[in-house]
Amino acid sequence: MVYNVRVIEWDDGSNCCLLDSGQGSIFSKEMKPVRFLSRWGFRAPQHLFYPDFAVSRILFSVEDVIRHEATTLGLWKEAGIPCPIVLSVSGNRIETTGFPEAVSYWNLLNNSDSVESYKQLVTVYSTIRETAKRYDDPRYLHPDPSLSNFLYLPEEKTALAIDPGRLLRRDLDLASLDILLLVEHLTSLSALNTSQDVIAGYVQELRSSLTKVEAERIKALDHSNPLVARLYFSLREELGYRFRKRKKKNPPLSLQKYLESYQNFIKDLL
Ligand SMILES: Nc1ncnc2c1ncn2[C@@H]1O[C@H](COP(=O)(O)OP(=O)(O)OP(=O)(O)O)[C@@H](O)[C@H]1O
Ligand SMILES: [Mg+2]
Repeated sequence: MVYNVRVIEWDDGSNCCLLDSGQGSIFSKEMKPVRFLSRWGFRAPQHLFYPDFAVSRILFSVEDVIRHEATTLGLWKEAGIPCPIVLSVSGNRIETTGFPEAVSYWNLLNNSDSVESYKQLVTVYSTIRETAKRYDDPRYLHPDPSLSNFLYLPEEKTALAIDPGRLLRRDLDLASLDILLLVEHLTSLSALNTSQDVIAGYVQELRSSLTKVEAERIKALDHSNPLVARLYFSLREELGYRFRKRKKKNPPLSLQKYLESYQNFIKDLL
């Protein structure tokens, strides 16, 4: 019997809730195909910034993504990587063990500066990367290592990895995928609403988990803001402003912020 339900509704592709079954908490996620696709419409332009972007296809089935999430969570669990346990998978829905006290790192680090708790994320993220390399198997990589896809458990003071439901390009080798995913993590760090000094502290922490070669590979990527991307976004905003009467905004703000932060301080820390 379900006693208690806390609905966590995400507006970018899935309906999530935490259920209290009386015998423990269950996290349930149902991906919505339409919103999922529209979200991809938003994400697709990232290809303009990173032509090598790690995802394979723009259009794929929600069921594939959920299956991928369940497979990776299973592999992680077996390898001893802290993550929720898969309880059931069916179509576009997945249920895992829930953590009612957990807070996503995106929320945590936007509300308090804490290198100590970020260290826990780096520990889990590094274990994931090392395991993928040890087994030479990209299925172990975190395919979406943004701050919102790691949870912090305040009582235990530890981190968990969640939400590995994303398909990676099959044509790229593991090391190249790993580098592009690290850049996505750095993009997420630079989007935090906090000071440059605090973000620099997190970047230093992450850097300490990388080899010199890995840091050099990040620096070897093209960090310019390509003309084609700038044109795409100005055109898109102009059309939105004229035809849909919406205020002009800068959708890939996080990417722009990353590219600026990269030039300002991140490259010197790598
Ligand atoms: N097992 C869990 N226990 C408690 N809260 C969770 C759990 N898994 C996820 N959450 C919370 O729900 C949020 C959304 O979960 P998740 O990242 O799996 O879905 P999503 O980001 O909406 O999916 P996607 O972006 O891939 O469509 C997380 O950021 C976290 O705050
Ligand atoms: Mg997520």
